[in-house]
Amino acid sequence: MATNKKLEGKIAIITGGASGIGEETARLFAQHGAKVVIADIQEEKGRLVADSISCNFIKCDVADERQVESLVKTTVEMHGQLDIMFSNAGIFSTDESEQVIIDFNLDSLDKVMSINVRGSAACVKYAAEAMVEGGVKGNIICTGSSVTSTGSSTHIDYTMSKHAVLGLVNSASLGLGKYGIRVNSVTPGVVATPLFEKSFKLDPEIVFQNFSCLKSYGPLKSSHIADAVLFLASDDSQFVTGHNLIVDGGFCPRTF
Ligand SMILES: NC(=O)c1ccc[n+]([C@@H]2O[C@H](COP(=O)([O-])OP(=O)(O)OC[C@H]3O[C@@H](n4cnc5c(N)ncnc54)[C@H](O)[C@@H]3O)[C@@H](O)[C@H]2O)c1
Repeated sequence: MATNKKLEGKIAIITGGASGIGEETARLFAQHGAKVVIADIQEEKGRLVADSISCNFIKCDVADERQVESLVKTTVEMHGQLDIMFSNAGIFSTDESEQVIIDFNLDSLDKVMSINVRGSAACVKYAAEAMVEGGVKGNIICTGSSVTSTGSSTHIDYTMSKHAVLGLVNSASLGLGKYGIRVNSVTPGVVATPLFEKSFKLDPEIVFQNFSCLKSYGPLKSSHIADAVLFLASDDSQFVTGHNLIVDGGFCPRTF
C-alpha cells in the first residue's frame, strides 16, 4: 500500500485496463487513492480486475467513437468529473505475416489504425472535452511503443499507428495547454504481456538478454511502465507536457 498517495480522490479512466500494462497501472492508481474506471473489450477479465481493486468496469471498444463518448459521459455522471485518461488499449498487427512493405496487408492496417489511432484520438478528444467543461486541469497519457519514432522493416502497420499516437500527443498538448491540461505519452520497451506473447514469437528471456542495458534489474515489467504513468498522471510532473517518456532499460530506439 502506498504511504504517500499521489492520486487521492482523482478519477481515472484506463483503457485496456483488463490486462498487462493497463491492469498494472489500474492497480497502482488505486493504491494511490484514485477512483479507477477500467474500460476494455474483455468483459470477464476486466470485471475481475475491477472487483479486486474496488473500482468500476465499463465495456468499451475504443474503435467505436460513440462507445468512447459514452464511457467518458458515464464516468463523469458516476464520479462528478474526469481527472486522468490513460489511453492505453492497443493491438499488434492482425495479419499472421510479418507485414513487410512488399506483402503489406492493408486490411490489417485499417484494423490496427482503428484501435491504436482512431481509438486514441477518441479517448483524447472526449477526455479533453470533459476536462474543459468541468474546469479540470487534467492529465492525458497515451501508450506509445519502442517504434513510436523509429522505422521498422516488419509490422509496419503497428509502427505507423504508434507514430500517429505521438503526433496526437504532441498536437493535443499544444492545444490543451491553455486549459492546464497536460498530454504525454509513455513508451514501453518489450514487456511480457499477453499482447507481446501473442504477437512476437520471441522468448522474453532472449529479449531481456539482448535488449536492455539494465540487466541487473531483471526484465522490464508492466510495473515499471505503471510507475512512469503514475509520474505523468501526478503533480510530480506538473510542468511536463508533450513529452514521450521512454521506459525501456536503454533498448529503443537505439538498437532497432
Ligand atoms: N507489451 C509490450 O511489449 C508493449 C511494448 C510497447 C507498447 N505496448 C503497448 O502497450 C499497450 C498495452 O498493451 P499490453 O502489452 O499491456 O497488452 P495486453 O494485450 O495485455 O493489453 C491490451 C488490452 O487492450 C484491450 N483492447 C484491445 N483492443 C481494444 C479495443 N478495441 N477497445 C478496448 N480495449 C481493447 C485488450 O483487451 C487488452 O486488455 C498497447 O497500446 C501496446 O501497443 C506494449
